[in-house]
Amino acid sequence: MNLADSEIVGAVLIKDGYSICRDINDADYVLINTCAIRENAEQRIRKRLRELKALQKQRQWVKIGILGCMAERLQRQLMEEEENVSFIVGPDAYRKLPEMLSHITEDEKMAETMLSDIETYADIEPIRYDTNGITAYISIMRGCQNYCAYCVVPYTRGRERSRDPQTIVAEAKNLFDKGYREVTLLGQNVNSYRWRSDNNEVGFPELMTMVAEVSPLLRVRFATSHPKDLSDELLQVMARYDNICKCIHLPVQSGSERMLKLMNRRYTPEWYLNRIEAIRHYLPTCSITTDVIAGFCSETEEDHRATLEMFRKVRYDYAYMFKFSMRPNTFAAKHMQDDVPDDVKTRRLEEIIAIQGEIALENNQKEIGKVFEVLIEGISHRSEQQLFGRNSQNKVIVFERGNLHPGQYANVRVTRCTSATLIGEVVGNK
Ligand code: 5AD
Ligand code: SF4
Repeated sequence: MNLADSEIVGAVLIKDGYSICRDINDADYVLINTCAIRENAEQRIRKRLRELKALQKQRQWVKIGILGCMAERLQRQLMEEEENVSFIVGPDAYRKLPEMLSHITEDEKMAETMLSDIETYADIEPIRYDTNGITAYISIMRGCQNYCAYCVVPYTRGRERSRDPQTIVAEAKNLFDKGYREVTLLGQNVNSYRWRSDNNEVGFPELMTMVAEVSPLLRVRFATSHPKDLSDELLQVMARYDNICKCIHLPVQSGSERMLKLMNRRYTPEWYLNRIEAIRHYLPTCSITTDVIAGFCSETEEDHRATLEMFRKVRYDYAYMFKFSMRPNTFAAKHMQDDVPDDVKTRRLEEIIAIQGEIALENNQKEIGKVFEVLIEGISHRSEQQLFGRNSQNKVIVFERGNLHPGQYANVRVTRCTSATLIGEVVGNK
């Protein structure tokens, strides 16, 4: 999400005559895009700001700006607390950046943090940073209004709004023409994507169909799905198109019914497991990944065991696992107690990580002997002689280079694995 936003910011500034530099020592402006979801993300930004003081000692004219969710959350307070920050810009105000930069002076700091109900940056063609030229993100909607009790996103990114599907398809076509072979459609809750025009309504399954039809050689992924809204219709569309990747990120957050209720997730463990069954039914080869939070307010050992049980039942291929951190302004901050001691949160998180590690390894071991179509993304970090890519399930596969190159599809048989990577040999290519 943040990379996609930075790509929009880059496009806004380049259009106005600015250029991006590779080396921070050449920069006149340093823009830091921030996340406010977890406390440690914000602490990292504070640390980075301290480090940047050295740069500003040498290049006194350098101006530092904070973009994104932390700017939105703290607004002017951030500039008061961090003296070396000259401007802050919330996620819906990036179009104002060029004008702001032209007005910033030694002693005048600026802030733009108005949220919008309509801004989707639909007309802006993002520039691609650090790109491999093969995979790219496309933002299809902004904001969220699910108000999960722990989550700051509805307060920092505003109301949910969807982007015109024609602009999404045009962006996908453009990327394909430039040689890209995979797009990931991004939104906080893609299943509630909805675009209404005079005589037409496009929901997420229709949008997926439109993007999948750009070319059979263009892979399409998406994230994130809220379990309460994952429909059979979407799973049927996924089954219909080979180029829609068979991988679903379905954040569970907790396996305990009581916790899910307190979190305001609006599903029960039974409902969640029913969605998992539906995925397995329509898409037997699909991988499933998740997010989970350890130690949310009032979580007991029994609640925690329910989460471990959920992990054993679903057998996720990958999980992003977090320790709960209380975020200001959220429902939890206003009405609940952060009462699970930190050492208990840590221990519970470690137990989840341990179980998930075993399951991921076992899942990968089951892939040995299978042949997957892999989109080659680049040269392996370990060896110049090896390439890496991903299969439809989003698993990384490493194999000998031969005379293949990034951007091609190859059929690869898995011969070995770790819990994070599959290792294989090429048996053919397109
Ligand atoms: N504490 C810990 N994890 C959180 N997440 C969101 N808010 C918090 C919080 N306050 C996690 C959720 C979400 C992911 C993006 O971040 O698991 O799905
Ligand atoms: Fe946050 Fe919940 Fe919205 Fe996800 S769905 S961004 S966790 S409020």
